[in-house]
Amino acid sequence: MSDILLQVNGLSRTYEDGPRRITALSNISFALDRGETLGLAGASGCGKSTLARILMRLVRPDRGSITFMGQDWLSISPKALRAQRKHMQMVFQDTVGAFNPHATVSSAIGEPLRIHNIVSSGERDKAINRLLDRVGLPASYADRSIMALSGGQRQRVAIARALSLNPALLVMDEAVSALDVSVRSRILQLLVEIQRDTGIACIFVSHELAIIRAVCHRIAVMEKGHIVESGVTGKVIAAPQSSAAKQLIEAVPRLNIPHEDTHNAQP
Ligand SMILES: Nc1ncnc2c1ncn2[C@@H]1O[C@H](COP(=O)(O)OP(=O)(O)O)[C@@H](O)[C@H]1O
Ligand SMILES: [Mg+2]
Repeated sequence: MSDILLQVNGLSRTYEDGPRRITALSNISFALDRGETLGLAGASGCGKSTLARILMRLVRPDRGSITFMGQDWLSISPKALRAQRKHMQMVFQDTVGAFNPHATVSSAIGEPLRIHNIVSSGERDKAINRLLDRVGLPASYADRSIMALSGGQRQRVAIARALSLNPALLVMDEAVSALDVSVRSRILQLLVEIQRDTGIACIFVSHELAIIRAVCHRIAVMEKGHIVESGVTGKVIAAPQSSAAKQLIEAVPRLNIPHEDTHNAQP
């Protein structure tokens, strides 16, 4: 069996903005293996979220194809999509808007379990507790209101909810960008552990290289809708070829220090 989980070929997307045509994505191709983490890096407006949304089937591309888990992802039927969606889950930057404001922690995590019939209702509380433990929240948080949590805690719940369906791929769009530096590094550490323990594949979208470096085996650098450079994260950072990659590195002075390697860049 092939190890390829996701294959993207020639994705393009333009938006009409009044009289202007904006090319958000132009001929994007890449592949992702099972268990691999890929960072999509690039300045604001380069098309990262459009790409993430196309993968999630929240936005249609004008052209191109996606093969996910061996299926033609852009043409599977709505019924099949409902069943298959659990394999690809997304965590967004906005921790508040991602939840029903009346939800409790347990209802937020329990809902996908119920909808997708992952566990029997009798087993659901145990599954929720396991997921809370997985993301470093005490079981006593289950009854708390989502809105009573801090941003970092809410993002942990969002990760637990995404993991509840045991997806093959987690797409994180600027998921830690809005968090304080210390909260952010704890959540990145958590994600590294989860990735190592579960072998889940991740696409990590960020305009900040330091975030991608902390979690990603490989990186694709985007500029104006194109992938301009890609490779093993450590190698791209050590010897960037494109001006876009160089600019991202310059934005994080610490990354200029050679051999300051904290993350083992092997799947
Ligand atoms: N719904 C939309 N309508 C018009 N333009 C859009 C829309 N969504 C994104 N864009 C434009 O497409 C480009 C890429 O946006 P986006 O994918 O959000 O980039 P990023 O996530 O890298 O910041 C930007 O120029 C943005 O303004
Ligand atoms: Mg974005």
